[in-house]
Amino acid sequence: MSWQLDATSWNSAEADWLLVGFSESLDLTGAHGELDQALGGQISRLKESGDLTGKLAEAVALRAVQHLKTPRILCVGLGKPELQTEAGIHKAYVTAARQITVKDQLRVAVAIPSRVALSPAATVRTIAAALQIAGQGQDLYRAERARYPLANIQFLADADSDLAALQAAAGEGTIIGDAVNLTRELVNEPPSVMFATSFADRAAQVAAECGIACEIFDETRLKQERMNALLAVNQGSVQPPRVVVMEYNQAPADAPILTLAGKGVTFDSGGLSLKPTDSMLTMKCDMAGAATVLGVMQAIAKLKLPVHVRGLMGLVENMPSGSAFKLGDVMHARNGVTIENQNTDAEGRLVLADVLSYAVDQGTDCIIDLATLTGACVVALGEDVVGAFTNHQGWCDQLLATSRNCGEDTWQLPMWDHYNELIKSEIADIRNTGGRWGGAITAAKFLEKFVGGKPWVHLDIAGPAFASASKPHREGGGTGVMVKTLVELARTFTRP
Ligand code: BES
Ligand code: MN
Ligand code: ZN
Repeated sequence: MSWQLDATSWNSAEADWLLVGFSESLDLTGAHGELDQALGGQISRLKESGDLTGKLAEAVALRAVQHLKTPRILCVGLGKPELQTEAGIHKAYVTAARQITVKDQLRVAVAIPSRVALSPAATVRTIAAALQIAGQGQDLYRAERARYPLANIQFLADADSDLAALQAAAGEGTIIGDAVNLTRELVNEPPSVMFATSFADRAAQVAAECGIACEIFDETRLKQERMNALLAVNQGSVQPPRVVVMEYNQAPADAPILTLAGKGVTFDSGGLSLKPTDSMLTMKCDMAGAATVLGVMQAIAKLKLPVHVRGLMGLVENMPSGSAFKLGDVMHARNGVTIENQNTDAEGRLVLADVLSYAVDQGTDCIIDLATLTGACVVALGEDVVGAFTNHQGWCDQLLATSRNCGEDTWQLPMWDHYNELIKSEIADIRNTGGRWGGAITAAKFLEKFVGGKPWVHLDIAGPAFASASKPHREGGGTGVMVKTLVELARTFTRP
């Protein structure tokens, strides 16, 4: 996909489609009025008949348009000003673009909406990312593709706008959209394609392309590192485990270090505590945390952010077999904590335990981990909301504020001390399940034992990382949730 940003108006743009935004006021003055006139009053007639309302994420396609260089117009509903947040603009343009990305090789011209509540640069950045995301489907293995990337996007800017700022914003949005798509693609790949070593190879490739230092721990190194909990999870698999360690540093020497850690269970069968078919069906998505970390690292490096960020990915496969770890087994985690295994399906926290302890020993100022960790979090918050858990309110507040700006719904759950009672074990320091109640929280309390008191936020993305069905504003499959938020957090965070 290529793009340009030109100080040109809609009537000189040449493309297959012209995208024009309409707020709910449907104010047909200025450029909108000129367009209406050029179309012989067609927009006015659509308004009168109620076929065009400007409601958020309405998409009205006009075909065989006359008197314009673009034969088709896509009217994008932008809603009321209070809806014109990043989330609103994103939803509007993804919904609209998804109506047309069913054809290959399309060139679109986008009139940059100037009457929206969001700033012009943020608007352009959001639209650029949205169009990128709308052009990628989950049809990786279909002979007949269901969705195609746009061939070219021409952004049409007012002559009096800050062209340099808009130009930069369009570039940033494209990088962010690409990162979201990378995460989505990794999640969508089948589990027999995307396993620990193939994921690690892909990560190394991304690192090489964007100038990120990258180290990959094989089994020998993982044993040396005493990552015994992570290794136990992988014990039943014929695939060898990996941990990917990335480091990107373009910051001044005294800058704080941010560590991102992702759960990368490339397939979660449940192990000996085998999942029933319906629950196992989508478990290729259980590496979404690691895929998010990789997407974010790619974006940070391509945006050349002046920051110091580490990205850790714990990659294993959870399988039942004669060599699988068993219920009642006791693991000695990397930091010396002993863990009784009471359910092999509570494997994500075991993987993260060792990765988090490694992060702490590397020296870091703050940590965020991402994991499709618990069904309990989905029960608590629904499928579209990220659960947040922390040992440091100030750090969590930075994350929550950023997620709000980016429109990725995130809700904090409590971490009171008494939840620790639920993960006590008779034989070991802790056990890996907390019983029936408060499952998302007891999983977070488990992870807390491995962060060495560092400012830390755990994000449970079990619900929003993977969508079982497509919706007008979102393709099914991997969603890339939290990529935007974390890129923005990396840009803006301060030492907690
Ligand atoms: N990967 C699952 C959690 C999950 C559930 C992710 C639904 C995405 C959608 C995790 O490893 C798991 O199986 N958790 C168990 C924990 C339990 C055994 C304590 C769960 O949530 O049931
Ligand atoms: Mn599991
Ligand atoms: Zn899992």
